[in-house]
Amino acid sequence: MSSSLLQVTDLESLQAEIKKWRDAGDRIAFVPTMGCLHEGHLQLVDMAKANADRCVVSIFVNPTQFGPDEDLEQYPRTQEQDCKLLAARKADLVFLPSVAVIYGDDVDSDIHVPEELNNQLCGKDRPGHFDGVATVVARLFDAVKPDVAVFGEKDYQQVQVIRWLVNKLKSNIKIIAAPIVREEDGLAMSSRNKYLSEDERHRASRLQHILQMIAAELRKGRRDFSDLAAEATLALNKTGWKVDYIEILRPNLTQPSEKTREFIILAAAYLGKPRLIDNLKCSI
Ligand code: PAJ
Repeated sequence: MSSSLLQVTDLESLQAEIKKWRDAGDRIAFVPTMGCLHEGHLQLVDMAKANADRCVVSIFVNPTQFGPDEDLEQYPRTQEQDCKLLAARKADLVFLPSVAVIYGDDVDSDIHVPEELNNQLCGKDRPGHFDGVATVVARLFDAVKPDVAVFGEKDYQQVQVIRWLVNKLKSNIKIIAAPIVREEDGLAMSSRNKYLSEDERHRASRLQHILQMIAAELRKGRRDFSDLAAEATLALNKTGWKVDYIEILRPNLTQPSEKTREFIILAAAYLGKPRLIDNLKCSI
């Protein structure tokens, strides 16, 4: 295992290390995370390394993107193990800031995502969530000033928010969206899968299977999108899930029409305590 992973917790040290690389002409890629790393995150590190000379990863459980009744306190923190995984994957630097380093005394969002992006899907059920994501990512971008940043398509709406943010900031950072990494049974990898009981874990891949069933129906020619989504919701709810949303949209998250040929099918549902999200692209 490589032992050359630099660990820094303050902005000054971060920027001093980055300056050395910049002075040597290196291109820098950045992967923001909240830790509890799994193969889904590590694939982003591989992509970052393939697209730049240096890879910076941040681990920061961002308070402003959690709602008051959400799992901020319980969110799994596995820093030592995360650093081992990052060293083995040959990331160059891990930034581990405290809340004070990122926010000072004012732990609040100062970026507001436009209504049309915020008021649907996960934004609807998690008010303020994407403002928190945009705020922390803007601060991290400002600290790291990367050439490239890599995000996972598991959080499909988040990628759209980041693309909006980069535009708003008039930034040249290139955003790379990486495909979803799944467990063998199809469940999308997630730090929150740790919350599933053994029985729930066995049933969790059903979310992905429902999305596959919708895609199959679209391929057969069905275009009654809301009926199709309602049927899938009913089927999932009957087996002990509590669906938050199932939606069939265009890849830019607008409503499809009869003529649409590219779809994204997105879902969020509770299985016991955890809320799982997934999505599936489908071309006809
Ligand atoms: P976190 O949930 O830790 O995810 C960090 C990155 O890993 C995100 O870009 C996410 O989409 C990606 N990721 C997670 N699971 C994945 C999987 N199974 N396949 C592919 N990519 C996956 O997303 C966040 O943190 C935060 O909102 C953050 C962007 C760090 C801002 O706080």
